[in-house]
Amino acid sequence: MARRRQLYEGKAKILYEGPEPGTLVQYFKDDATAFNAQKKGTIPGKGVLNNRISEFLMLRLAEVGIPTHFIRRLTMREQLIREVEIVPIEVVVRNIAAGSMSTRLGIAEGTRLPRSIIEYYYKNDALNDPMVAEEHITAFGWASPQDMDDIVHLTLRINDFLTGLFLGVGITLVDFKVEFGRLWENEDMRIVLADEISPDNCRLWDTKTNEKMDKDRFRRDLGRVEEAYQEVAKRLGILPEAGMRDMKGPELMQ
Ligand SMILES: Nc1ncnc2c1ncn2[C@@H]1O[C@H](COP(=O)(O)OP(=O)(O)OP(=O)(O)O)[C@@H](O)[C@H]1O
Ligand SMILES: [Mg+2]
Repeated sequence: MARRRQLYEGKAKILYEGPEPGTLVQYFKDDATAFNAQKKGTIPGKGVLNNRISEFLMLRLAEVGIPTHFIRRLTMREQLIREVEIVPIEVVVRNIAAGSMSTRLGIAEGTRLPRSIIEYYYKNDALNDPMVAEEHITAFGWASPQDMDDIVHLTLRINDFLTGLFLGVGITLVDFKVEFGRLWENEDMRIVLADEISPDNCRLWDTKTNEKMDKDRFRRDLGRVEEAYQEVAKRLGILPEAGMRDMKGPELMQ
């Protein structure tokens, strides 16, 4: 089989040309970065777990009417997706203060916010993904006011749904980041959920103990990073049958 053409290599994923026009293959790596790639490492098995977790969450979201780029999983690390024109904005939803919000505003980590708060960050590595207001987004044409209406509406529905889904398995959804894209079908355009939803871009705390089950374990050197990602998959009921042996590909028998 001819090798697929690589279109983009990011920090956590690689995009390849898909089998049909308008499709891409998204490959999930074990590479992890934090603090705008100043901290680099690998989390063994992360790519496999994030591929599964993102598939699971996007399928559940699609069932409740959220349009997504996800088509189907192809392999342990690859999924087929619809190619979209990415809106260059990271949309962050916060339910509980943590991370940069706690630092910036001096709100103790773990403080429940009076209501869910949406923040926007301009996707630009050279500028360190600066926080921007909706005014900047529409004034500079990164998204139209209509796109933003759709994005806010979808984001709030995603937050509601995922908060409930995670709560059901004993996990508190503290905050998360999503990306959206424009999907063109003939003359029509729809905003759809793209990229991934995984412990790389969510803060997930065990509801009973508040133990962190996400990339903060890597950012803050808390240890047991792989185990935390595995535990999230396990609670969602999607850890592959063979457990972690299945995660690393074939092993030579001694
Ligand atoms: N359906 C899609 N169509 C086109 N591009 C997509 C789609 N879903 C995700 N992407 C883009 O693919 C890339 C995924 O790679 P990765 O997450 O590793 O990037 P990254 O290092 O975080 O860089 P970036 O700053 O571009 O997000 C991202 O740039 C993301 O915006
Ligand atoms: Mg990314």
